[in-house]
Order: sequence, then structure tokens, then C-alpha cells
Amino acid sequence: MPEQPTPSPGTGRAPGAPSDAQATLTRRRFVRLGWITAVLVAVGGQLWVLLKLFVAPTTPGEERGQVAVGRLDTFPIGSVQHFRKERFILAHRPTGVLALSNECTHQKCTVDYLPERQVIFCPCHGAQFSTTGAVLAGPAPRPLERFAITVQDGQVVVDTTQRLTAPAPGAPG
Ligand code: FES
Repeated sequence: MPEQPTPSPGTGRAPGAPSDAQATLTRRRFVRLGWITAVLVAVGGQLWVLLKLFVAPTTPGEERGQVAVGRLDTFPIGSVQHFRKERFILAHRPTGVLALSNECTHQKCTVDYLPERQVIFCPCHGAQFSTTGAVLAGPAPRPLERFAITVQDGQVVVDTTQRLTAPAPGAPG
């Protein structure tokens, strides 16, 4: 049978084992270190968020909600392009460029452009919109919403944080 260390007289501890004071100190240091780490992580996280908000690149097309889609001359008149990730449909009409929200105004399904029919179609309940966003058929109560567009140095920039007033229902399309 292996030999067990003999407890020191009066302490009940094995020789070489930390005293209660030492164990408490170690525990306290451990807890303090945990708190310091937690505070540093929390402060670091907050600083990171602030840095991202205020120090992020602010060149045109890179602000929050601003999407640079490319040069205007790469979108011929009559072209319609769906930017699915950015959630809009860009339509270059003879009267100008429109960025239409791809969210159906009926129950918020995602609409898509059908080139063979030249309509924007909602697969959920069959609403159809023209490339100006006007309602052509189906249960949609309002035209598709539009986002603000600017052309800067030939680059088309869509601002998905700015919704424009849509044309009246039934507007020509
Ligand atoms: S959600 Fe588009 S028609 Fe109903």
C-alpha cells in the first residue's frame, strides 16, 4: 500500500500543501484575474463596435446601406438586374434608373424579374409589377418601394436606407 503523507501536527495538512491563507490568496487572484479578463473583453468589444461605426471607410458606395452597383454605362437602357443580396432590382428605363425594393407589398415575399414576360413577379400569390414598380396584377396593395439612387463619377450608388415615395397605384408602367 502506498505511503500517505503524514498531516502536520495541528493543521491537518500534508507537508508542502498550501496553507489556508495561501489557498485563499490563490483563489482570490484567480477570481480577480477572471474579472479583469471579463472587463477587458467587454471594453474591447465596445471599442471594436465604436471603431467600426466611426472609423469605417466612408468613400462613396461604402457607407452603411450604400451599394455601388457599377458604372451606369454597363446597364443598357431597358436592362433589369436583380441584386438579390442587396435586396433590390435595378431597372434602367428611358426615363432614368430605378432601384426597386424586391419585397412584395402584399406579404413581403421576395419578387423576381421575369425577362420573358418583362414583369416583376411575386411567387407567393401571383402579384405582378411593371419595371417602374407599379402594380399590374394580383393582391399587392401598393407599388414596389423605391430606393434613392445617385450617380457619382459614372458609378451608380443605391442607398437602401432611403426609401422614396412610390408612384400612385395604377401609374403607367
Ligand atoms: S406576398 Fe406577394 S402577392 Fe402575396
